[in-house]
Amino acid sequence: MARNNSPLHGFIVSGSGLEQSKTIHSQTSMAETDEFWDFFWETRLLPMETLGKREAILAASRMIRSLAQKTARPLRILELGCGEGQIMGTLLDAHAQLCDVHASVGIDVDRQALSHCRRAYPGVRWVEGDFTDRELLLGLGKFDILLLVNALHEVFSEGYSPELGEVDVPEAKQRVEQALAAAAGCLAPGGCLILFDGLEPPGDPFQRLRIHFLSDQARDEFELFARQYRPFRIVARQIEYPQSVELSRRDFTRYITKSIFISKPLWETERFESYQYYSEVEFREVFARRGLEILELATLTVNGEKWRSRVEVEPSDAEFPQEHILILARAASGAVT
Ligand SMILES: C[S@@+](CC[C@H](N)C(=O)[O-])C[C@H]1O[C@@H](n2cnc3c(N)ncnc32)[C@H](O)[C@@H]1O
Repeated sequence: MARNNSPLHGFIVSGSGLEQSKTIHSQTSMAETDEFWDFFWETRLLPMETLGKREAILAASRMIRSLAQKTARPLRILELGCGEGQIMGTLLDAHAQLCDVHASVGIDVDRQALSHCRRAYPGVRWVEGDFTDRELLLGLGKFDILLLVNALHEVFSEGYSPELGEVDVPEAKQRVEQALAAAAGCLAPGGCLILFDGLEPPGDPFQRLRIHFLSDQARDEFELFARQYRPFRIVARQIEYPQSVELSRRDFTRYITKSIFISKPLWETERFESYQYYSEVEFREVFARRGLEILELATLTVNGEKWRSRVEVEPSDAEFPQEHILILARAASGAVT
């Protein structure tokens, strides 16, 4: 790998001002306990603001360490929709001793992102291609860790229908399920899939919520969101001009998930993508149908603090949506792929 190969490298933070009280003085005496790794990731992921990636990386790191104890050879990792390689690269940097870096693969359709990957992590195989292409995946072989991080929602969003003016939901869900099935076919026996993505939260999607914007900027950004978000029409009723609107819980979830991107350069791509596609129940059903046994599942809210600085919600007991999901799964014997 191009950068710090040893996990101990990230521990040497003495004098950095980050975590002085936790400075570790000896590289050699440090056993690789859970505490060691908690601290390693705490320091390593500090600059990574995107909390979603953080959760996915932590889960993958735990899984790599656990699988490595059961597997005699180094682990092969595959990431579908690897983007600029932040996740794969970070994991391979940390676990270079446990992974077969050269046999690990990242796939993406975005050529520019792959150029970045190749520069930052030259040891890894970066493949330009469509990960929903079953033939392409079949040619890659089998992997011990399969990462699908913030990727399947893009497959869902590709199901936008100009005729409907929205995503064709049944068709788009079918695309996601087929992509997941093709991905599952890449798992080696005993291999593990780590999925992190948006979630259609539980609760009545048509519950009416009143949203009070805490600043003019938050209100203006909501208006921009409602005008420009493409996957679904957003219907909001002005109730107290100019600071409050009423909308469905479903639309609120879509807004709040996207709110951190509005007015930023990323909005130009984010506005075409719906993070929400399956509910937790649907994820469980699809995984079961495709022979994937769920080992761990967590639903979470990402960036709640930032959101709470933008809006207040009524009724006041309305929960901020758990709009992300993390699933660790393995191929059950006889998996249907
Ligand atoms: C939101 S980014 C996530 C990148 C990376 N997984 C991460 O979390 O840092 C999603 C990536 O998936 C890629 N992508 C979406 N659909 C794809 C497909 N069908 N085949 C290959 N790449 C795809 C996009 O180009 C984009 O780079």
